[in-house]
Amino acid sequence: MKIVVIQGPNLNMLGHREQNIYGAMKLDDIHAQMENVAKQNNISIEFFQSNFEGEIIDRLQECLGDADGIIINPAAYTHTSVAIRDAISALNIPVVEVHISNIYRREEFRQKSLTAPVCSGQISGFGPFGYHLALIALMQILAEIEAINKRKEAEKK
Ligand code: DQA
Repeated sequence: MKIVVIQGPNLNMLGHREQNIYGAMKLDDIHAQMENVAKQNNISIEFFQSNFEGEIIDRLQECLGDADGIIINPAAYTHTSVAIRDAISALNIPVVEVHISNIYRREEFRQKSLTAPVCSGQISGFGPFGYHLALIALMQILAEIEAINKRKEAEKK
């Protein structure tokens, strides 16, 4: 079982940027925590961060046939990128969207996510802990998919 975590623009600045909104944790620390939980659950996990829209789309496309699930924080592209939405939509694997801040109580332009409607669900407003919640949610979704597939296989026999 493999999960890929994709981080959008400026998230490499976590721990430095607007700590009152995004907290003090660095991206590497968030990833280290996720890696621990993934290991405990026998899941392989990969991390990717980019400030470029096209690189995020390339990484999403690489997940096809390779990853079982994705956690993505598209950051500012959440509110603007039809291209990232289309890339998520083209994949037939569960995707969980994360936002560190509660985008629904911020500026109006942040209150719309173009990407959330093509994701399994969205977690917004729980700080860096949201990534942990996303991982738990995604593992649950993947376990359900596995159980359904096993049942289908058994019915064939
Ligand atoms: C963010 C929210 C976005 O509006 C913003 O552009 C970000 C981070 C969040 O995690 O809260 O860069 O995605």
